[in-house]
Amino acid sequence: MRILVTGSSGQIGTNLGLRLLRDGHEVYGVDKRLNPWTDDFPTLLQDLAGHYPAFVGGIGGVEYPQVDAVVHLAAHAKVHQLVREPHRALENAIMTFNVLEYARGLGLPLVFSSTREVYGDVHRFEEYAEEAANFAYTESPYSASKITSEAFIYSYARCYGLGYLVFRFSNVYGRFDNDLWRMERVLPLFMHQLSRREPITIFGGNEKVLDFTFVDDCVDGIARGVYALAERRVANKTINLAYGQGNTLVRAAELIAGELDVDPNITMAPSLVGEVTHYVADVTKARELLGWEPVTPLEDGIPRSVAWFKEWRAAHPEEDRPFERPRSNVELEHGYKQPAGAGA
Ligand SMILES: NC(=O)c1ccc[n+]([C@@H]2O[C@H](COP(=O)([O-])OP(=O)(O)OC[C@H]3O[C@@H](n4cnc5c(N)ncnc54)[C@H](O)[C@@H]3O)[C@@H](O)[C@H]2O)c1
Repeated sequence: MRILVTGSSGQIGTNLGLRLLRDGHEVYGVDKRLNPWTDDFPTLLQDLAGHYPAFVGGIGGVEYPQVDAVVHLAAHAKVHQLVREPHRALENAIMTFNVLEYARGLGLPLVFSSTREVYGDVHRFEEYAEEAANFAYTESPYSASKITSEAFIYSYARCYGLGYLVFRFSNVYGRFDNDLWRMERVLPLFMHQLSRREPITIFGGNEKVLDFTFVDDCVDGIARGVYALAERRVANKTINLAYGQGNTLVRAAELIAGELDVDPNITMAPSLVGEVTHYVADVTKARELLGWEPVTPLEDGIPRSVAWFKEWRAAHPEEDRPFERPRSNVELEHGYKQPAGAGA
């Protein structure tokens, strides 16, 4: 198959692109930035959030290579960033709209990356099955952007016969998630700080229970979904992809500290606005529809992630410096910290 992956320079896109290549397929990436980890597949550099007129064959007048399916991962994927800068949530919706118009023009099936954030932080259930989503509980602009994207997709299925699969992910961790200055994610941040013997802060304290998903499990589910959708075995379903077990963030931090052989200095703080603080996925549907089975519990996934982190860090010692949140959008977009005096 020939598969177009948007957001292919991100954590999941990179892992997915490499997996699809290993399975013998052709992969074409579209992203607004170069892939920092691999050049094994081509990346078409494009901002997908523009207001583009309809154009059959690509987005924004750019002719894409011919493909059999589209995986749409491109998004601003940070909850807190979108609380501060809600216009980025709107950009997420525009990206999905552009990708949908492209898929509609060519009759291509679409796989979309939604999130457990669509369930909100209402603690209604012990485990969340897909039909538990009630869009009145919209927790944050990020969550609104994914709900909007899902709604657009469902409407395109009804009005134009789009074939789709929507996956809802949860705390994906593993390799290619260490570009902290662009994408501050909690487990890589803890690896960074603990490896430097620095204190860490756990927002939400002991109460925060999340469903951490090792990236290979997530990508295996997406790949199975792409093949099932292209072969018309499964279509027009919304599916949780997570490990299916709750773990406290405290436990995740302790596992990381154990792998790094440090005694963690942990500060507890209240959770941040817009955050989901309790989520465990019901993954029955993914098992039944895709024959998928998550195989990496946190106790196995953390050691593998820390091993990858150590290997990367050894090859990139310049990243061993204190983490400071980016001061400007330029820093945030490009994932680097400007030298002192270079302006904000
Ligand atoms: N990683 C997780 O834990 C998780 C959980 C739930 C949902 N998701 C969703 O899965 C998808 C992939 O997540 P990820 O972890 O790989 O995120 P990521 O930030 O690593 O990758 C997203 C990619 O999208 C690209 N992008 C952003 N705006 C763009 C634009 N305007 N035009 C073109 N490209 C643009 C970024 O450059 C980046 O490479 C996202 O949609 C995210 O919301 C991720």
